[in-house]
Amino acid sequence: MSRSVGRAGSQECDIAAAQSEECHIAAIPARLDDLAHLGRARTGGFRRFAWTREDADLREWFLGEAQARGLDVAADRAGNLVAWWGDPDADGPGVVTGSHLDSVPDGGAFDGPLGVVSAFAAVDGLRADGFAPVRPLGVALFGDEEGARFGVACAGSRILTGALTAERAAGLTDVDGVTMAEAVERAGHAPLGPDPEALHRIGTFVELHVEQGRALVDLGRAVAVGTAIHPHGRWRIDLAGRADHAGTTRLVDRDDPMLAFARVVLAARAAAERHGAVATCGKVQVAPNGVNAIPSHVTAWLDARGEDAERVRAVVADVAAVAGGVTEESWTERTPFDPRLARRLAVLLDDAPLLPTGAGHDAGILSAAGIPTAMLYVRNPTGVSHSPTEHAEDADCAAGVSALTTVLRDLACGGAR
Ligand code: GLV
Ligand code: MN
Ligand code: MN
Repeated sequence: MSRSVGRAGSQECDIAAAQSEECHIAAIPARLDDLAHLGRARTGGFRRFAWTREDADLREWFLGEAQARGLDVAADRAGNLVAWWGDPDADGPGVVTGSHLDSVPDGGAFDGPLGVVSAFAAVDGLRADGFAPVRPLGVALFGDEEGARFGVACAGSRILTGALTAERAAGLTDVDGVTMAEAVERAGHAPLGPDPEALHRIGTFVELHVEQGRALVDLGRAVAVGTAIHPHGRWRIDLAGRADHAGTTRLVDRDDPMLAFARVVLAARAAAERHGAVATCGKVQVAPNGVNAIPSHVTAWLDARGEDAERVRAVVADVAAVAGGVTEESWTERTPFDPRLARRLAVLLDDAPLLPTGAGHDAGILSAAGIPTAMLYVRNPTGVSHSPTEHAEDADCAAGVSALTTVLRDLACGGAR
């Protein structure tokens, strides 16, 4: 790694908070506004997909933020970036915080970006206070978290840790048949692969994220600490039929895969209710997709999640029975976050509530790889996420940065090592 600016460990660690953090905390809405023109769709939502022009622009923004602060950016082999305050090779492993900037189709402004801008704001606040970390601090940008283009969520962190092999990642395709390997090459990046050296620089990871639910509203709190990620996965369903004319083919003569798809959607809902889980068919491709043509083929995707693997597997088995089979594209076991670290954070944050989540995060992938990992959730007044209407109030964003600053101050002083 290249030399770091502002070497950590050069002064005594001071864990007292100071007033100068306030102006950095207040800047969160403006920082999100800085990103608002990047990948904005006409719907008002964001379309920020991996290894596209928009992705490059977002990475450029991140590099600019790092450069403005004199942070050294290390790019790993898996397509992720970490902007370091201090040198993790000399004084590490470090404390890393951050999130992602890519989005689902028509995603909201907060899912991912809130964690990245809050990370920079927390670093600004600590620096303005004259805080000198004992452990280097890193701000991370994970690539391809949503898996919106190539189908596997948290691809950047999974490739980094080896949970997704370089070979499988390279061969994943988008809707136009472009492989991830081709997209990465077109973006000017070297082929992706695991990076144990980069991984070893991360001693502790903390991801701040907008809550994707309403638990904090019900609890009347602005910030929570994560306990675990529910098991979840994605399955592809291929339904073959026979293309024919919509006007001249008698109903009895049709082999229409759209009918099979309708049965699959209803079966997924019923199975989720039966087993106490959730199941979603949110993506479908119809071939040839003509209004006056009976389809020849329907490809659909099932996203299923639940509190334990058994109920998720039961849902998938029921759907598979109706669909005539499903193909697993990804599976993530229940992922607990370091319980000692979670308790420590909850105490630091005025007995913050502890919450599990049904949403996947890079934090889960790092936790599964053995890195002590924690998450902070910021209240979302409607609970809506993966939608342009996703929101967090300014005051709650400020509470999130304040909480993250407190946590980084503690961890960078050696807390929960
Ligand atoms: C990521 O946001 C996911 O849980 O799908
Ligand atoms: Mn998301
Ligand atoms: Mn996210």
